[in-house]
Amino acid sequence: MTNITGMKKNVLLLKMLKNERVRNLPKSFLFYLKDALKYEKFVELDGKYVLTSQMPPYPGEAFDQFMQIGAMAMEGKAAPASCHIAVTNKCNYDCWHCSNYNREDAEDLPLDLLLKTVDELQDMGNCIIGITGGEPLLREDLTDFVRGIGPKSCVMLFTTGDGLTKEKTKELKDAGLFSIVISLDHYKPELHDEVRGCEGAFATAIDAIKHAIEEGLFTVVSAVPKREWITNGDIWKFMDFVNDLGVHEVRFLAPIPTGRIVGQQELRWKKEEREEMWRLHKKMNTSKDYPRVTVFSLIESEGILGCTAGFYHMFIEGDGTVTPCDMIPLSFGNIKDEGGVKSAFERMTQSYTMPRNKCFLRAAVKLIGKAYEEEGKLPLTQEKSVEIYNRVPNRQCSEFFEKLGMPQALASEKEKKKD
Ligand SMILES: C[S@@+](CC[C@H](N)C(=O)[O-])C[C@H]1O[C@@H](n2cnc3c(N)ncnc32)[C@H](O)[C@@H]1O
Ligand code: SF4
Repeated sequence: MTNITGMKKNVLLLKMLKNERVRNLPKSFLFYLKDALKYEKFVELDGKYVLTSQMPPYPGEAFDQFMQIGAMAMEGKAAPASCHIAVTNKCNYDCWHCSNYNREDAEDLPLDLLLKTVDELQDMGNCIIGITGGEPLLREDLTDFVRGIGPKSCVMLFTTGDGLTKEKTKELKDAGLFSIVISLDHYKPELHDEVRGCEGAFATAIDAIKHAIEEGLFTVVSAVPKREWITNGDIWKFMDFVNDLGVHEVRFLAPIPTGRIVGQQELRWKKEEREEMWRLHKKMNTSKDYPRVTVFSLIESEGILGCTAGFYHMFIEGDGTVTPCDMIPLSFGNIKDEGGVKSAFERMTQSYTMPRNKCFLRAAVKLIGKAYEEEGKLPLTQEKSVEIYNRVPNRQCSEFFEKLGMPQALASEKEKKKD
């Protein structure tokens, strides 16, 4: 594994111009992109390069699929480029913030339906499949699912690490898994165990991280820092800890007011905490040492990618319900009832007509909290979901899509100038 920073990043970007699909992107966009990537650290692992956590590694079939999305964006077309799938609702943990909290005790979706769905998604342009849950390692046929996805999509597994033996890690890697995202919220064992509601969760996560690195998976640690861990400086000590472990990337998510903490906006990072996390992202990614870092609230901010939920990203719940994102509990159909995903995705894009410049959930959190009090369960009904979407209309795209020349983004920019 090698971290790539400074001028070496430019050398790689120039090399990527050999790919015809990269070359076909507008020149002005390529210059913009080079600048937009200044706070991303690239990582090389076994001849594959990870540039950002939003795209498959270069080179490869999944990267080529990803480049088709660029062409679709230039025509204003939606695609399920990234799809996370909860392959089970079962879980042995009891986390304070679980987005999947209190879901129906649904039977796991059958493997053949999952594989048919992935096929459909790939025909529509998918290049990233994130396997999540519940705890996906509780599914006995997980390896068959990973194998069945094939090289068109980069496969990531989100897990606590519970059940990830050395043998299981090798089996998953041989089946085609590229990346594993293991939850680790704190460097102090007792604090991680506490937030995960499970004694021994820390030791389990550490063992899993070691197996993943040894077997050559792109190994990511995912943390959801509480506000006080940012203000008291624990977050910087956490970086030293994961650096010593040798992980390749650390992802930081703010506690998102959904699932078990639905409507609880006060748990989200405040401005100063967000700025500290953004400082950490920039500092780590411009340093040769330390793993690369992704602070999602920075990447999803208006100055960078914005929010692609419902247009380029989607989620399939453990019972088959289609939603715009793992963290947005609005429903637009069900793959089990409809025998596939296409119609639900198209229905969703009748509401989500373009990416947004800011997180949708942030804008809709109060409405979702209130609707949850009325309906008493998540995800909300389709009728309520459309009603909520219509009350939080999208008037603006992020700069990224505007530079790419997406027609909706250019039109929204004109509107903004008129205002
Ligand atoms: C839903 S879990 C499923 C996979 C596995 N059970 C785990 O916890 O890693 C996927 C990721 O979402 C994160 N997550 C869950 N609820 C969240 C919330 N309300 N806000 C932010 N992240 C959340 C978890 O910490 C975990 O890293
Ligand atoms: S966040 Fe993951 S480990 Fe925690 S309860 Fe939810 S599904 Fe289980």
